[in-house]
Amino acid sequence: MSGFDPAWLALRAPADAEARSPDLLADLSDWAAQKERLSILDLGCGTGATQRAVSPRLPCEQHWLLVDNDSQLLALCPESQGSTEIATIQLDLAADLELLPSESVELVTCSALLDLVSADWLSRLIAQSANAAVYFALSVDGRIALEPALAEDVQVLELVAFHHQRDKSFGPALGYEAAETAAQMLRHSGREVRLERSDWTLGPDRSALQSALLDGYAAAAIEQDSRSTAMVRRWRQARERLSEQRLTVGHLDLLSLPDPSPRVKSNRTSTPSA
Ligand SMILES: C[S@@+](CC[C@H](N)C(=O)[O-])C[C@H]1O[C@@H](n2cnc3c(N)ncnc32)[C@H](O)[C@@H]1O
Repeated sequence: MSGFDPAWLALRAPADAEARSPDLLADLSDWAAQKERLSILDLGCGTGATQRAVSPRLPCEQHWLLVDNDSQLLALCPESQGSTEIATIQLDLAADLELLPSESVELVTCSALLDLVSADWLSRLIAQSANAAVYFALSVDGRIALEPALAEDVQVLELVAFHHQRDKSFGPALGYEAAETAAQMLRHSGREVRLERSDWTLGPDRSALQSALLDGYAAAAIEQDSRSTAMVRRWRQARERLSEQRLTVGHLDLLSLPDPSPRVKSNRTSTPSA
């Protein structure tokens, strides 16, 4: 068990699918159209959300290798269908990254993983993926807006931000800096990179996801500083009593192609638009 609840992953999947940058998916799709067959490695796959979201956008034969250390999540991954082959492997990415068969891989993907990893681990991944396209989606970037605002929001979210930097077995976690750090590392190695926003905007129609997210923030804040327990519980109850709220959670998607198609080249490097 990794501690990532399948129910949480199922709850967030529709919001993730909606939030993914359509521009980056279109560029990835154009690039993949030049291939007959793609070999794809998805890291920290969970129940296979990245494969489900990305596979229909790739107009070529695909071989996916889905990697996670949690056998319960791997058991829920999709099976091969038609010209899309899917295999899973249970592996501790923190300890065994170099065991992955990366030489023949043409596309490395991950979603909601980068904030857990360290700078050292990320630089090893990027070195290992030198010849592959990379699509790192849905990395939280720390832009969080809770509406209506409450007096305790700032304090709670500050504790959550510190909690994000805790070691999740990969070394000190990059947390909210993850996508920008990956972009810098890739550019440093001479690659073109696109970063686009992929924010969640959760209105009252997403109240179950709102509730799970706020529970997660409360648990993280208390774990970060147990002296804040009473304040955090008060905050959580006050948020529960609100008849309606809107939560915006900032994410970034990153795409870097080794041999960009003409349309992708014309976009060159870009930073997220407001
Ligand atoms: C936030 S979840 C994202 C899952 C999936 N990519 C998605 O978008 O739904 C992070 C995933 O990383 C996996 N993970 C965390 N640490 C890992 C490690 N050391 N080795 C392999 N997988 C790991 C977890 O099991 C979990 O499935």
